Formats: sequence, structure tokens, C-alpha cells
Amino acid sequence: MTSTYAVLSEGLEKRFGSGDKAVHALRGFDLAVPEGTVCGLLGQNGAGKTTAVRLLTTLLKPDGGTARVAGHDVATQPQAVRRNIGVTGQYASVDGDLTGRENLHLFGRLLRAPRGRADELLERFDLTGAADRPARTYSGGMRRRLDLASSLITRPAVLFLDEPTTGLDPHSRNGIWEAVRELAREGSTVLLTTQYLEEADRLADDVVLIDHGRAAHHGTPAELKAQIGSYAEVVVTEDAGERALHAAAMVLDRLTGARPDVDPERRTAGAVCLDPQLTLPRLVRELDASGVPLADASLRPPTLDEVFLRLTVTPSPTEAAA
Ligand SMILES: Nc1ncnc2c1ncn2[C@@H]1O[C@H](COP(=O)(O)OP(=O)(O)OP(=O)(O)O)[C@@H](O)[C@H]1O
Ligand SMILES: [Mg+2]
Repeated sequence: MTSTYAVLSEGLEKRFGSGDKAVHALRGFDLAVPEGTVCGLLGQNGAGKTTAVRLLTTLLKPDGGTARVAGHDVATQPQAVRRNIGVTGQYASVDGDLTGRENLHLFGRLLRAPRGRADELLERFDLTGAADRPARTYSGGMRRRLDLASSLITRPAVLFLDEPTTGLDPHSRNGIWEAVRELAREGSTVLLTTQYLEEADRLADDVVLIDHGRAAHHGTPAELKAQIGSYAEVVVTEDAGERALHAAAMVLDRLTGARPDVDPERRTAGAVCLDPQLTLPRLVRELDASGVPLADASLRPPTLDEVFLRLTVTPSPTEAAA
């Protein structure tokens, strides 16, 4: 079965530093990405996304566990792994003093890519017009596209993208998304990290939530969203007192099974609801029945933070190595 997975890791461990200051960045990280699929690795700052990518791309050595990428072991066959992958890091690696074209030609020569590949990529990433300008004059989105182009110079079987769209405007983000989709259509396997639920939703066949160095949840975006449900928020009227807010919180508690967040200043009570059956009419009916003086009520998609709070059970990291 192994050969059908482009990326397969088991029990990956990584610690940085030692003693009191040690950071346990990966704690038994498991991942299985079938060939030809896009996997979204979703996690908050410091969850371990970049560390996972660095281990899988042989830039770092694991302290424990195993991983195979494109059929090769990252620890014992790093050269073979490198020949089969492309990597775009969280921070762009293009040389600002070189033009876009020179950057790609340089990568092409280093990696012995066929001549002409650079021009093909410039065209594809909409950089032909700017190809002969120094890359330092590029916008953030153009740099990111150039970076992505340089990681594709050898047509890698597996592509790793570490937060490819963080900080980009919607237009540039769409450009990157389109490129990733096209790669997937051509049969490449893509592992991308992101902090955006929406990005994972749009691009990924499978989503893995990484939390404190562990894969906390995985499934298709639809499965994940079905588990998450919604965030229900209630606003009580201005003249209503603490009691009304308390009554609203009780209703939310009963409907969602979660302890509501109450904000007396904004006169709101809110809670993450895992039940996809909860509808706005039902919420309003229940609030009415309990006599809550309602100014507003809403159900909205949860934020990533809310998803994590609800779906991850890991206690907050004490960081010191366990
Ligand atoms: N070289 C290093 N030395 C010490 N600690 C490190 C090092 N690299 C990462 N860490 C720590 O390991 C943990 C995981 O970091 P990592 O960069 O993998 O997170 P991330 O999910 O990529 O976060 P972000 O969303 O901010 O990019 C963090 O606590 C981080 O401080
Ligand atoms: Mg990172």
C-alpha cells in the first residue's frame, strides 16, 4: 500500500533545544497523503507546520519516527527524496538582485532542468511582462508566484508549499490557488500549510489539523465542517440586564453543549455549535420561549480559533519537553 502514498509519516518527533528551554515541536506526527491529491495542513502559529514540512523535505532530521516521500525514506534516502520534490518556503527564497528570468534560469541550471522550462513557467505564472526586472521590484504576490515557479522547475512529483498565500491580496491569492489546482489536475501531489480554513476548503482534498505537534483531526473539508457546525451568537436588548444575558447563555448551553462566552459590554453570548441541525429559526424560538429580550441572533461559520478550541483536546503547551 505504501507506494500509493506520496507522503507517509509515522510518529515523527522533533525537539529544539534541550533542558528547560526545549520545545517539543512535533509529538508523534502522522500523515498520509495519497498520490495525486492536495492535502491542507491547517494549524495556528507554532502548531508545527513548518517543522513538519522541513522534516519531510529533508531540511531537518527527525528525532524519532519515520517518513517516506515519493517512496523514499527521508532519513536514509534524502537525495532521492530531494530529486522528487519541490519546496516553496514560508519566506520567499528568490534573489532580489536578479531578474525573474535570471532567478529561474539559475534554478534551472542548478537542477539541470531543460532549457525553455524557465520561459514556460514565466508564461504560466503571468510573469512574462516583468521577467526582465529585478525581483526586488516585484509585488508580494509576484514574488510568491516566482517562488512557486522556481519550485516547479523540475516538475516535482510532490510539491510542498508552506503558507503560499499568507499576506497576499485576494487577487494574488486566487492566482496561487489556480496554479495549485492546475498542478493537481496534472497529477502532482501537493502538501500545503495554511492558517486559513477557507484556503484548505477551496484547495484540499483532505485537511489535517495540526495542534501542538500532533495531527489532531483529519478528513475532507466537508467532513470537517460538518463536525464543526457553526458559531451561534445572541445579542440582548440594551435595557436588558445581566439576568437576560444569563438566560441567553443557558439556552445556548442547552442547544450547543458548549460553555458560552458571555460579554456583558457587548451584551452578547455566543457558543460553538457542533450540531449541524441547529438553525436560526430554532435558536430564535428557543430564546423566545425562555423570555430572552432579543436584539439580534446569528449563526455564522466558526473561525479557525473556534474550531481549534472545540476540536482539539490537547492541553495548552507547557513547551518544556514532556
Ligand atoms: N529552529 C528552531 N529553534 C527553536 N524552536 C523552534 C525552531 N523552529 C521551530 N521552533 C518552535 O517549534 C514550534 C513549531 O514551530 P513551527 O515553525 O513548526 O510552527 P508553524 O506551525 O509553522 O507556525 P507559523 O504558523 O507561525 O508558521 C514553535 O514553538 C517554534 O517556536
Ligand atoms: Mg510556519
